Formats: sequence, C-alpha cells, structure tokens
Amino acid sequence: MKNLIIKVFLLVTVFSLFLIGSEKTTVLVSIYRYDDMFMGFVKNDIKEYAKDKVNIFLRDSQNSQATQNDVIDIMIERGVNVLAVNLVNPRAAEAVIAKARKHDIPIVLFNKEPSKEDMDSYDKIWYVGTKSEQSGVLQGKIIHESWIDNPQYDKNKDGKIQYVMIQGEPNHADAIGRSVNSIKYLKDNNIGVDLLAQGEAFWDEDNANLMMKQYLRKYGDKIEYIISNNDSMAIGALNAIREFGYNKGDDNKFIPIVGVDGIPSVIDEISKGNIVGTVLQSPKNQAYAIVDLVSVLSKGGNPLELENIVFEDSKYVRLPYVAITSENINLAYEAYK
Ligand code: BGC
Ligand code: CA
Repeated sequence: MKNLIIKVFLLVTVFSLFLIGSEKTTVLVSIYRYDDMFMGFVKNDIKEYAKDKVNIFLRDSQNSQATQNDVIDIMIERGVNVLAVNLVNPRAAEAVIAKARKHDIPIVLFNKEPSKEDMDSYDKIWYVGTKSEQSGVLQGKIIHESWIDNPQYDKNKDGKIQYVMIQGEPNHADAIGRSVNSIKYLKDNNIGVDLLAQGEAFWDEDNANLMMKQYLRKYGDKIEYIISNNDSMAIGALNAIREFGYNKGDDNKFIPIVGVDGIPSVIDEISKGNIVGTVLQSPKNQAYAIVDLVSVLSKGGNPLELENIVFEDSKYVRLPYVAITSENINLAYEAYK
C-alpha cells in the first residue's frame, strides 16, 4: 500500500513537472517576412541561440498583417505564454498588443518600433531594436567624409550633392530615422544637398533595382550619391547602375552608394571599392537580446534583472550601430557569421 502511494505520488509529481515544464517554455516568434535579407539573419540567429535555452515556435507572416494576426490568435489558443513579434505593419501594434493584454501574456516587439503610446499601453511589453536616428547620423558621416576626400564626386562642380534616396517603407522608424538624419547631418555640417528623386522600395533588392534604373534613365550623370535605407536595396541599386556601365572600375564612371546593415554581399562590394560604406546593424546582438528576454519571461522572471542588457525607460533595448568603410569591414563579417 505504502509503495503504491509513493508510486502514485511520484507519478503525479513527474506528470505535473512535465506539465509545468512544457507550459513554461513555449514562445511564439513571428517574423514579418522570412525573405527579408536582414530579418533572415536575425531569424537564423534566434533559432541557433534559443536551442538549449527556450522552446520557440518560429513563424513567417509572409508580409501579411492578416496572416500575422491569425498566427498570433492560433498560437495563443494553443497555449504559448510569451509572444515575440516583428510586426508586418508598425501601425498594427495596437491590435497585436491588445491580444497579448487580453490574455495577460508578455510581449517582446522587435525591429519594427511601435509608437510610444503603444509601448505605454501595457506593462508587460518590451522592444528590441536600435536607435534609428543613429543609423542616419552615421550614414551622414560616411557620406560627408567620402565627399571631402573625393572632390571628383561633385560631377557638376557646384559644391552640392545631387542625391537619390531609396527608402524602406512608410511608418517604419528605421526608414524615417535614416532618411531624415543622413541629410540633416550633411546640412548641419554645411554640405549643400539637392534631392533629385526618392521612393520606397520596401527594403527589397529587386524593387530598388527597378527604381534605380528609372532614376538613371531620367537623371544619368546628374546623380552624385545614392543613399539607401538598407543594404539589400543598395545591392539592387548597384546592379542597376552597373548595367549602365557605372561602378565597374572606371573612376570616371562612378556613383558612390551608402547603405545600412552590413550584410556580407555589401561588405564584399565595399572591399572591392564598389560601395563606399554601410552602417552595421548586428543581427546577432538583436537575436541574443530577444532570446534572453523571452527565456526569462517564459520562466516568469523579470527581464530587467538581466545583467548583460541595458534598458532605456525599463522597456527599450537599443543596440548600437557602427559605421563601416573599407577600414573596418571585419566587424561586419563577424556580426553576420
Ligand atoms: C533593416 C532592413 C530590414 C528592415 C525590416 C531594418 O532595420 O535595416 O534591412 O529590411 O529592418 O523591418
Ligand atoms: Ca554637385
């Protein structure tokens, strides 16, 4: 009898431990689009780093907010107890946060920053990303230095930079921070600028390639700088201008390009002299922060107790950018290994 009671007791304990164990380690990680180059790296790093730490379900929203909303609903129903969401549309934050709040589930948003109002609307919310403005400032610095060092960039010799701006997407803090602050930095440093054309290529290489071909047909040699909100679009632009004979080694047929991210293909082009520079955004560091946060949250802990992470206003984790030119490309290779 005694033996039986012990056996039953053990069984119940093991079973409840199993329940708690499985219950406490389920996190949904929703990515806005797996085929976004930068997010692809973040996704792979999350997967790798989460391995022995926390049980995650990675899901692709395929660039559809409706899909993302459905995935979140289904996974909440299945019992996930932490959400990590890379919004499709930053403006959808309110609705997504409402889902978390309704079920009292902590939520970590990343890469697409919601408004401050949204961030203040719930007490179990965190954001992992960057200080968008900083990437624009660093782009401005790269452009400024290269402009001073290379008088031949000023093709019409009017002392001003005639540029085209390839933008990411509307309402994305990174797109705005980069478009605005790169130019602001130049103006603050007394560099004259003329905008020839700008357009949204939604972070995408092929869109940027088509856009750049149109700009080139229209403006040709008038274009003295191509400023891109990210590296995928910088590569799209580079391939476009190459089709017109630019950036193939002839110094008289060169248009400087600057991007953001530090993806390996751009770093290769920087080392060959075909792209001037980029601003490193480390997918690894962001993935590590996301995984650290969700693993603490999945155990019912408080992320603010994580010693390796610095919080702004107790809820923002903003990882630093680094300007990359041919002199320090190794930093970028490391972050994307
Ligand atoms: C990155 C882009 C990426 C975008 C996705 C930005 O921070 O620089 O490469 O496409 O995030 O939201
Ligand atoms: Ca000029």
